[in-house]
Amino acid sequence: MNVLVTGGAGYIGSHTVVELLNAGYGVVVVDDLSNAKADVIDRIETITGKRPAFYEMDCKDKDGLRKVFSEHKIDAIIHFAAFKAVGESVRKPLEYYRNNLDSAMTMLEVMEEFGCKKFVFSSSATVYGPNNPHPYKEDMKAIESSSPYGWTKVMIERILTDYVTAHPDFCAVLLRYFNPIGSHDSGLLGDDPNGIPNNLMPYIARVAAGQLEKLTIFGGDYPTPDGTCQRDYLHVVDLAVGHLRALEYAKDHEGVEAVNLGTGNGVSVLELVHAFEKANNMKLPYVIGPRRDGDLPAFWADAEKAKKLFGWEATHTVEDMCRSAWEFAKKSAGK
Ligand code: NAD
Ligand code: WQD
Repeated sequence: MNVLVTGGAGYIGSHTVVELLNAGYGVVVVDDLSNAKADVIDRIETITGKRPAFYEMDCKDKDGLRKVFSEHKIDAIIHFAAFKAVGESVRKPLEYYRNNLDSAMTMLEVMEEFGCKKFVFSSSATVYGPNNPHPYKEDMKAIESSSPYGWTKVMIERILTDYVTAHPDFCAVLLRYFNPIGSHDSGLLGDDPNGIPNNLMPYIARVAAGQLEKLTIFGGDYPTPDGTCQRDYLHVVDLAVGHLRALEYAKDHEGVEAVNLGTGNGVSVLELVHAFEKANNMKLPYVIGPRRDGDLPAFWADAEKAKKLFGWEATHTVEDMCRSAWEFAKKSAGK
């Protein structure tokens, strides 16, 4: 089976490509490198001994995608390609709507031309919006978001759902990720954002590497056991494996399914900081600062549907996540 992975040079995409190659899939990567480096493809080859076909290409380029589909028989798509910075999306909504929506729709149009009917989509826990109680379950009704980025996920879920209504022999799996962190064991792949990281684990890793002075914890007065926010952190390799299970499901099914990929556990910011210190035997300088606008106090997944439908569940511990994140950060910082 040949899988086209858009955004396959990115953080989650590259880890998924490794798992696909190791499992014997043929892999074609399309990535415009707007948020990734070309050497990720070399690193994937170093890890797996196999090199995926790679097109440096924008997913909004319809003729370009037609060329890819003409040169390879594509059986399924995993669509990671998107802009993903929540704060930036508030400042640049049009760029986010254009890139994320147009990429997904162009892909669907080209898939239709070439008779490809399996679509695995990178959605997000953000689609549960600010008002649903946790743990989040897939059948919760109020699907909304509090940022343009999040709305692109809500809208693409809608587009795929309507597309399936019109084409009942199509299969779309909407994977709602919680908070992926950590890295491949090789230390060759990981989350390495440009500039100052917005997300917690890359920020912690830069503090640990001495590239940033200290972590500011956003808020210590939330109604949670230790006053800091709780999230469902999951190891990126577990998340990558979740995509293989979703593909196997899509092979034999039609219709649309939304599925959470999370551990089902809430971990606070302070717990994660202390787990990182323990796993890597170091002290992390931190201060408790004011709350960050838009943060929810706590949420995590109800992870039962993924178990039932795909036979998938997360296996890595928080300690594994912290150890591997540091291995990658150390290598990236040349330590
Ligand atoms: P990432 O930025 O590392 O990967 C996205 C990749 O897509 C990048 O390599 C980028 O160069 C590429 N890309 C962007 N627009 C493109 C376009 N128009 N054409 C071709 N390539 C394009 O991000 P990630 O963390 O690996 O996230 C992957 C997907 O998962 C995204 O859709 C993101 O919204 C979603 N997601 C991420 C998280 C998270 O916490 N990382 C959580 C939930 C959902
Ligand atoms: C985690 C916790 C912060 C940085 C975002 C998106 C979400 C999804 C995953 C894509 C929060 C705290 C953070 C720092 C801190 N992405 N924090 N100091 O906000 O849960 O989710 O990424 O779909 O849509 O919103 O992740 O890593 O930014 O924050 O205290 O310097 O860490 O307040 O409680 P978040 P995050």
